[in-house]
Amino acid sequence: MLNKSQITFDKNHIWHPYTSLEDPLPVYEVESAEGVYISLATGQKLVDGMSSWWCAIHGYNHPKLNEAVSHQLSKMSHIMFGGITHEPAVLLCQKLVEITPAPLDKVFLCDSGSIAIEVAIKMAFQYWHSKGDSKKIRLMTVSKGYHGDSFGAMSVCDPQNGMHHIFNPVLPKHEFIAEPSTPFGSELNATDLKHLEEAFEKHHEEIAAFIIEPIVQGAGGMRMYAADYLKKVKELCVSYNILLIFDEIATGFGRTGTLFAANHANVSPDIMCLGKSLTGGMMTQAATLCTENVAKVVCEGESGVLMHGPTFMANPLACAVSLASIELLLSYDWAKKVSAIEGDLNSHLCPLKQHPRVKEVRVLGAIGVVECTQDVQVAEIQKFFVKESVWIRPFRNLIYLMPPFIVDSNELNILCQAIVKSLDIDAHFKP
Ligand SMILES: Cc1ncc(COP(=O)(O)O)c(C=O)c1O
Repeated sequence: MLNKSQITFDKNHIWHPYTSLEDPLPVYEVESAEGVYISLATGQKLVDGMSSWWCAIHGYNHPKLNEAVSHQLSKMSHIMFGGITHEPAVLLCQKLVEITPAPLDKVFLCDSGSIAIEVAIKMAFQYWHSKGDSKKIRLMTVSKGYHGDSFGAMSVCDPQNGMHHIFNPVLPKHEFIAEPSTPFGSELNATDLKHLEEAFEKHHEEIAAFIIEPIVQGAGGMRMYAADYLKKVKELCVSYNILLIFDEIATGFGRTGTLFAANHANVSPDIMCLGKSLTGGMMTQAATLCTENVAKVVCEGESGVLMHGPTFMANPLACAVSLASIELLLSYDWAKKVSAIEGDLNSHLCPLKQHPRVKEVRVLGAIGVVECTQDVQVAEIQKFFVKESVWIRPFRNLIYLMPPFIVDSNELNILCQAIVKSLDIDAHFKP
């Protein structure tokens, strides 16, 4: 357990995500994590409702994933990927090509979700550069999106509500259209259709690619929208000669009830980004896949190569554990499990629609969202959740669950009841 001076050091010297060093939010010291439980240094055990920002789909300390890391560790933990290849990378990429929507069949392995987005953007710009089209130098996307914290990724995050609007003056200016408003499961509404058709008609000549999080907009607002929207986007991309990029970093590997969110619409993009649960949350790794056509055109261009190559590209430990995580997921009826989680989330959270503090409840797959009428006081509500022995970290006015798929009905009940109780305490909400 950390002593007092180490805790003070943490407070005064270590940045945590999106926090101040002048007025830091409280942090909880974690000793270990096992299955769906997080053990604090105080000895308290919390039911995890976050999957460590949506990636630990198999829970923590899974023996199969640990074994994959140990086995690979005994052979080689890292080796550069320039001029070298290795079995873990090849086996992982074969698996990714096999399970992602056809015809995605070229894989670029990289370090994090944000970097997978940077690579996707580079692929799109290099593609049109190779084709000699100097006008296609902008991206099109929807409002309320989130694609990461690096500069290229920030440039396609929601420009108003996003976490990054202060950077707007130094970011490239891309084309934003209204966020999809057709709810999941409905036919495309006239408003969405109009926005899409008008934007493509007006801007297609300068647009290199349309980038979107399929079906679920995550950190930009936890919004779920219709598969029909993606079908229309694909149709317009084809007819206006625009590449389509799907950011499946949050939705990939079963989270929405299908292996990839693209499967809901039966639509395949030209470029797809994966991350988060790719490694089962064991370590950082991401991937950008593209079609043969995209790869061929990129490589026929002036540079002759895709201009990216991070130091830790295709790290063997990460590749081995990613493959093990995918094999573990595919080894059981994960779709049935995710559907059971969806059923439980629906029955516990939907009654909250009547609560005066609740604006909307949304559930899809292993995602349950309670959108409140007011923003939460993060430190206060977090303290309450820990007291209730759950780990739930809301943001803005969104209290949500994305638990590991191994969560059982009883644990889901504990998580949901904590949310129910949290709504009745005024101090949890900003005035
Ligand atoms: C949809 C989406 N894209 C990209 C990212 C960025 O991933 P990372 O945090 O690994 O850079 C995130 C992270 O939350 C995400 O949800």
